[in-house]
Amino acid sequence: YADFGGGPESGGHEHHHGMNVADLTGPRTGTPDVAVTLTARKQKFQLASGETVEGYTLNGTSPGPLIRAKVGDLVQVTLVNESVKDGATLHWHGIDVPNAEDGVAGVTQDAVPVGGNHVYRFRAEQAGTYWYHSHQVSADEVKGGLFGTIVIAPKEPGEVVAAIHTYDGKRTINGRTGSQHIDLPAGTTARVRVVNTDNSILRVGLIGTPYKVVAVDGRDIHGPTAVTAAYPLAAGARVDLEAVVPAGGMRLVAGAANVSVGIGPAGTEPPSAELPAKTVDLLKYGTPAALGFDPGKADRNFEYRIGRRPGFLDGVPGLWWTINGHKYPDVPMYMVAEGDVVRMKISNSSGQAHPMHLHGHHAVVLSRNGVKTTGSPWWIDTLEVGNDETYEIAFVADNPGVWMDHCHNLPHASQGLMTHLMYE
Ligand code: C2O
Ligand code: CU
Repeated sequence: YADFGGGPESGGHEHHHGMNVADLTGPRTGTPDVAVTLTARKQKFQLASGETVEGYTLNGTSPGPLIRAKVGDLVQVTLVNESVKDGATLHWHGIDVPNAEDGVAGVTQDAVPVGGNHVYRFRAEQAGTYWYHSHQVSADEVKGGLFGTIVIAPKEPGEVVAAIHTYDGKRTINGRTGSQHIDLPAGTTARVRVVNTDNSILRVGLIGTPYKVVAVDGRDIHGPTAVTAAYPLAAGARVDLEAVVPAGGMRLVAGAANVSVGIGPAGTEPPSAELPAKTVDLLKYGTPAALGFDPGKADRNFEYRIGRRPGFLDGVPGLWWTINGHKYPDVPMYMVAEGDVVRMKISNSSGQAHPMHLHGHHAVVLSRNGVKTTGSPWWIDTLEVGNDETYEIAFVADNPGVWMDHCHNLPHASQGLMTHLMYE
């Protein structure tokens, strides 16, 4: 089944698309609607809650500035590298930008050296919750703080953006340890956009009132129902939670109750508790809706088998994560042509879970361990694949270029769990 390395295809239809460099870049002309300059530094800095850590900042803070755009806006971000020795880039995690704007060092651009800069330009096309981060020596630079959030939408009155990150062993929300408060009047419909910028899955959720999971990875959930449960937020993934603020307030909990945001009327002390043991399962959450393509008619069927192997692999000693028995860069690329319906079966027998992230595309989850999705279309750009689990996903190859497909536990990516999706 697996199609690796781009031999001749059996697809039966013709693909006319040759990659044209102009197609791969964002709009080069036009006045941006949103223009931001982000200056990357290596430095000691203070978390918003006061602790000093050593790491990386954008414009002096980590998380870097929240970037907001509306659907249709031309976004321009200039990255200036002041003092990040290994160089830096900005990757727009979850935004399906043109390939040349994707910010992957060594693939879509060179890392921006100290003293250099790089301008990214793309059209904000899909409303949603996203984040950006360096994609150069990512395991070190993201962990150290070289990231921020980006929201594409009109600002809603009850909007809360919460980036969860662990600096030097301290778990934070928007750079603050402990408990914090955001004032919102009772009765407001709050949309809490949660971003997991760490390397492992985290249970999150609202305490004090039932909530709906209204979007995942920047895509709406169809027909969400109210739950009292925790949501398992994969590393790199996003979830939007919606609830009406009760009179006594409510609380966003990230993992344990001691890292949280009270959301409610000024002066209230919203309830504090651990998250319920029950977990939202998107496989059967919400109601079905049209996908816009037929995953039953696949032009490509890929297998993505995740394993682990100690010793010499592809000539290098180490303890490696593998894809179909190989480690990056020796994993053959997944070759597609523009317009293909692609099915991918991801299986994991590596002994650990992996949050798998595909750049430039959103895929829909078809099944887990052979059990089909029965709820809302479940679109992802980042999917937690547990040990001994198998997922089937499908997507349309609609964004030409060379794209990464890797584990977002970033040390795992540098230990081999990374490959490319490549348009022929
Ligand atoms: Cu958020 Cu390839 O990364
Ligand atoms: Cu992994």
